[in-house]
Amino acid sequence: SPIQLPPLKIDALPTLPNPLEEAKRSAAYRAVDENLDFFNHKVIGIGSGSTVVYVAERIGQYLKDENYSKYVSKFICISTGFQSKRLILDNGLNFGVVEQYPDIDIAFDGADEVDENLQLIKGGGACLFQEKLISTSAKKFIVVADHRKKSPKNLCTNWTNGIPIEVVPSAYVRVKNDLLNKLNAKNVNIRQGGSFKAGPIVTDNNNFIIDVNFNGIINNPKQLHSEIKSLIGVVETGLFIDNAMKAYFGNSDGTVELQE
Ligand code: 5RP
Repeated sequence: SPIQLPPLKIDALPTLPNPLEEAKRSAAYRAVDENLDFFNHKVIGIGSGSTVVYVAERIGQYLKDENYSKYVSKFICISTGFQSKRLILDNGLNFGVVEQYPDIDIAFDGADEVDENLQLIKGGGACLFQEKLISTSAKKFIVVADHRKKSPKNLCTNWTNGIPIEVVPSAYVRVKNDLLNKLNAKNVNIRQGGSFKAGPIVTDNNNFIIDVNFNGIINNPKQLHSEIKSLIGVVETGLFIDNAMKAYFGNSDGTVELQE
């Protein structure tokens, strides 16, 4: 655009409770600053988790700046679940639904692990179906994460909680058995609520989440995604394949590493 906007004007940044938050905030702010196009973007996807909190906060800061306000007040933000809907509303941004805005210009979201080829594990917050719907509906999908999420090579190097899978409730036993017997999973857990007796957690789509571990690192996430997806009862997997365009990893000292 020929128009040059002056730097963002904000009051002092909110203080943070610990260095990990600094890492998350640094990644999110940098990602927004470098990728949000105030003139051409209209529909923005806002993901879930603790890092994306700072994405919404940053866009909210632009909304309050007199030079950016007229652009940001026209943005429509699409959520990936209840938490991100609240983030959008709490930061004064316009909320829209993907049914009305199926073509998203840019989406920001966190990740549980990112491999050397920008393949992701997501779903630690149980929002993986909407996260995949939004990220794959976006022309650009940008990942924001702290340094712990960057794998030196393969998936499941640092992330040991397994791959989240959203399943239809009546099929969870069938999926569990198929993962163990057909795909040679090592262990399969139905994700439970806060206490032992709470029972399975229920997603925004009224489904269950299974976390599955295989033997060690994932060498071929694309193939594994297809194999899991083909099981009857599986709605979506937390393997995000060929979807992310860039990942920003924040460090506790405020520096940020870009992977693309
Ligand atoms: C939720 C997700 C989150 O984006 C992922 O768990 C990362 O969260 P955080 O930013 O808190 O580390 O996939 O389903």
